[in-house]
This record gives sequence, structure tokens and C-alpha cells, in this order.
Amino acid sequence: MGMMGAISAALGIPTLGYLLVPAREKKQSTWIEAADIGKLMVNQPEQVVFNRVRRDGWKTVTEKVAAWVVKTGDQQVVAFSPICTHLGCAVSWNAGEKSFACPCHTSVFSPDGKVVAGPAPRPLDRFDVRVDGIKVLLGEVKKSAEG
Ligand code: FES
Repeated sequence: MGMMGAISAALGIPTLGYLLVPAREKKQSTWIEAADIGKLMVNQPEQVVFNRVRRDGWKTVTEKVAAWVVKTGDQQVVAFSPICTHLGCAVSWNAGEKSFACPCHTSVFSPDGKVVAGPAPRPLDRFDVRVDGIKVLLGEVKKSAEG
């Protein structure tokens, strides 16, 4: 009985650790430092690219993520996903038109991410944003509502 207990513990404890560690890691902060607020100009979107660690099942993947960051006030910042909500092409900022433009099917988004023209069904998705001193921190992307 003692031997069976020892074998069960030897196999069970590492297995439990393996199963429980990812659940604990999910609680870690997902905020990524993406920009310095002092370097952003009000109402002039800046594209930022940063690395984010993503867990895909048991695999950990480091991926490059881009965002359009817009300073809207002294300490206010919004950040949009650069992925068009139509079919997923990358949008870019058109400074002359003061809008985000998608080259694929000509969707146009206003500086606050709303659809101005084209087939895009909803506004640009937004990142959660936090300003901590001079740091602009980006969190998860939140899918925008239809319409
Ligand atoms: S993917 Fe952007 S308009 Fe179609």
C-alpha cells in the first residue's frame, strides 16, 4: 500500500503541477508597454508594433502585434486594431483625408474608428488602454459592436 501511495504521489504531483500552472499564469497581467505618451501628438495616429506572448493550448507563442494609437487629450489615449472589420486587411492612416483607409475594398474609418464608407460591418476593434505616467499600456483587443 505504501509503495502504491509513493508511486501515485510521484506520478500525480508533477501531473497536477503541469495541469495547474497554465491556469495560474493566465492571471498574470497582459498589459504591454506600447508607447511613450510624450512622443504622441494629439489626434495624430501613430502605428506601434510590439511583441505579445500568447498561449495556444500548451504552446507559448511570441507574436508581433500592431496598433494604431491616438492621443486624444493630455492623458487620454485610444488604440485601434489595424485589422479591417470587413475581411481583415490592414488599415493605414491617411493623414490628408484624416481617416483610416483599407486598401482591399475601400472601407474608410473616421479617426474615432467608426465606419465612414465601404463594406466594413462595424467600427475598428479597440485595445484596452491604460496610461501609467508616461507609459501607454495596451491590453486585450475588444471586438466592436455591429453598426
Ligand atoms: S478587408 Fe477592408 S474593406 Fe474589405
